[in-house]
Amino acid sequence: MKILFISLGCDKNLVDSEHMLGMLCDKGYSITDDEYEADVIVVNTCCFIHDAKEESIENIIEMAKHKEDGSLKCLVVTGCLAQRYQEEIIKEIPEVDAVVGTTAYDDIVEVVDSVLKDIDSNESNKNNSFKDISYLTKNNGKRVVTTGGYTSYLKIAEGCNKNCTYCIIPKLRGKFRSVPMEELLEEAKYLADKGVKELILVAQETTLYGVDIYGEKKLPELLKQLCKIDGFEWIRILYTYPEEITDELIQVIKEEDKICKYIDMPIQHASDNILRKMGRRTNNKDLVNIITKLRNEIEDIVIRTTLITGFPGETEEDFETLLDFVYNMNFERLGVFTYSAEEGTRAYDMENQIDEDTKVARRNAVMEMQQDITFDYMSSLVGNITKVLVEGYIVDEDIYVGRTYMDAPNIDGLVFVNSTRQIMSGDIILVEIKSSDGYDLIGEHIY
Ligand code: F3S
Repeated sequence: MKILFISLGCDKNLVDSEHMLGMLCDKGYSITDDEYEADVIVVNTCCFIHDAKEESIENIIEMAKHKEDGSLKCLVVTGCLAQRYQEEIIKEIPEVDAVVGTTAYDDIVEVVDSVLKDIDSNESNKNNSFKDISYLTKNNGKRVVTTGGYTSYLKIAEGCNKNCTYCIIPKLRGKFRSVPMEELLEEAKYLADKGVKELILVAQETTLYGVDIYGEKKLPELLKQLCKIDGFEWIRILYTYPEEITDELIQVIKEEDKICKYIDMPIQHASDNILRKMGRRTNNKDLVNIITKLRNEIEDIVIRTTLITGFPGETEEDFETLLDFVYNMNFERLGVFTYSAEEGTRAYDMENQIDEDTKVARRNAVMEMQQDITFDYMSSLVGNITKVLVEGYIVDEDIYVGRTYMDAPNIDGLVFVNSTRQIMSGDIILVEIKSSDGYDLIGEHIY
């Protein structure tokens, strides 16, 4: 039986997909990337914002077409959209054989097996699986890494307690639950043994790791333990919360060579008025303080953040505060989303919703300002010698492509490297930066 997996949404969802793939492969299913030859298709969905929802539905409908031409036997929908719209999916898309909730993905083999058994015996049951939203799936050690072999994500916790007013995720993923440290270390060793060199820590919020099971923040300790594992050369931390960054964490990032001097810290806004409405637990002053501290303490730190424009009640004044903040903070990396009103969140019912044109115009204004900041930063790197993790080779241009510690995969820039030597994907090489091209860099391999 051949299985095709479509993983949408965030890297946390991708980790779930990799665990499901591992379980299915362990039971004898083989992986295909050709939808026309797949016997089973699993669409692991996202519904964080409107566009993600649309993309998920389009993918399901697209895959459902293979039921008509007879090639596809079993279509399963998992993930966040499945958790949120289980009944609607079953009702509106009859080709879907089963829907699996976010906390029930370890039932995937059972679900697929039952669907196939029903088909053999001409039965048409819906083999859905949902578990209590507080359930934490156990790592079964069978994960299939789909990110190229040398980079992998490690999901250190599930769910979130922050309850920002715009966010649906706590409803879909439950309360914050840390994965026990011994399980994480075991999974990390497994990944290192498979050749992973860059380990990326993810969760809805990584900085709170441990508080629920150990009574205190244990991210610094986890990082120290991960640094001891042979094989990893880079350890990267995503999704930190500004108010949860401690001096101890800063110290560990500073002292441990393997930890990338890169921090992803989504702040969403900088006006106190909007931060309050968003239910964020910081204010403008605290944000300035923590960013200043990170820059003072950690040499060459690269800070990435994300922002939302057009949140309900965002005035011109709030927006000006945001623009000033972006100008003054000089983020090396920054992404901006327009606010998406999600049913079931508190912000959905707030007064003074902002029209779409204003949201987009404000997003564009932030991006325009940021573009100059990032481009200036990129050109300031010319002349530096830096390590690059090589990810591929572009035959037509005879050039290698990779990333520095300053770039997380899929969201940040790339480095194009000229070399007369043969380099393998996954090699980490020294590169002298010769020029910059927008968000990317161009360099020479030095040896
Ligand atoms: Fe989307 Fe669920 Fe991730 S809503 S962003 S896949 S946690």
